[in-house]
Amino acid sequence: MTILVTGGAGFIGSHTCVELLQAGYKVIIVDNLCNSKEEAVRRIERITGKQVVFYRDNLLNEEAVERIFSENEIDAVIHFAGLKAVGESVQKPMEYYHNNLTGTLVLCEAMRRHGVKRFVFSSSATVYGIEAAPPLKEEMPAGSATNPYGWTKVMLEQILTDIHTADPDFSVVLLRYFNPIGAHESGLLGEDPDGIPTNLLPYISQVAIGRLDHLNIYGDDYETPDGTGIRDYIHVVDLARGHLKAVEKAMKDNGVFVYNLGTGKGYSVLEVLHAFEKACGRQLPYVIGPRRAGDLPVSFADASKAKRELGFEAKYGIEKMCEDSWNFIKKNPNGL
Ligand code: NAD
Ligand code: UD1
Repeated sequence: MTILVTGGAGFIGSHTCVELLQAGYKVIIVDNLCNSKEEAVRRIERITGKQVVFYRDNLLNEEAVERIFSENEIDAVIHFAGLKAVGESVQKPMEYYHNNLTGTLVLCEAMRRHGVKRFVFSSSATVYGIEAAPPLKEEMPAGSATNPYGWTKVMLEQILTDIHTADPDFSVVLLRYFNPIGAHESGLLGEDPDGIPTNLLPYISQVAIGRLDHLNIYGDDYETPDGTGIRDYIHVVDLARGHLKAVEKAMKDNGVFVYNLGTGKGYSVLEVLHAFEKACGRQLPYVIGPRRAGDLPVSFADASKAKRELGFEAKYGIEKMCEDSWNFIKKNPNGL
């Protein structure tokens, strides 16, 4: 069974490729490396002892995408490739809409030409918008967003649903990720953002390794037990395993299937910080600042549908997530 993984050199994609290869799938990666490095592909091969077919191409390039489908017998596609920085998407909406929407359309057109009808898509809990009250369930209204990045996820969920309506044999699994963190246990793969991180875990990691001074905590006046924001963090290797279940589902059944991938449990910013301090063995400096615009007080999943229908359950807790993040940054202080 051959899986085309778009964005397979990225954070979640690379961990998913490892799990796919270890489960016996053949893997083809297409990635233009706009937010990743080819070294990740080499490390996937090192961890698994298996080879990956790698195309350094942009999904916006129709000829390149056509060539990938002509040169390979592809059974299913897992589509990670996309731009994902919320703040940047507000500054550069056209780039975000073009890259994420057009890239997906080019991919789906090539799939149609080649009769490939199994699709797994990286969506986000952000599609639940700001109104829904956690625990967030798949059947809650989803379809609002607060920034262009989030809108690309809302729109792509709709586009993929419409493609299924037009061709009921086109099977799509929409995975709504909560907050993926952690790294591969080997320390060879992990999150490697350019510049100053905007997400919590990469920021804490850089404070721990001495590249940044202190963590800025965005508000301690939320209605939560310690006043800081609560999120559903999920180990990236658990998330990667969820994709195997999703591919199996797409191969087996026709339809549009929506699943949250989270643990169902929320941790506050201070709880995460303290778990990281335990992992790295020292106290980390922080400063309480104002809330960040657009942040939710609390977000966590109802993870029961993925458990019931896919047999997927996250197995790692916050301690392991922080240990693996720390192990990764220690071994790769300057990234991959
Ligand atoms: P990432 O940036 O590490 O990986 C995305 C990969 O896609 C990168 O390697 C990038 O080079 C590639 N890419 C982007 N545009 C491309 C294009 N036009 N052609 C070819 N390659 C392209 O991000 P990630 O954290 O691994 O996220 C993967 C997916 O999951 C994204 O779609 C993201 O929006 C979604 N997601 C991520 C999170 C998160 O917290 N990391 C949460 C929810 C959803
Ligand atoms: C953010 C995005 C979300 C996206 C997700 C994954 C926003 C508003 N939301 O989610 O759309 O899907 O990243 O890319 O940007 N925090 C600090 N200090 C920091 C960084 C974060 O206190 O330096 C806090 C935040 O206020 C939040 C928690 O840590 O309470 C997690 O933040 P983050 O990792 O950025 O994820 P989200 O905000 O959940």
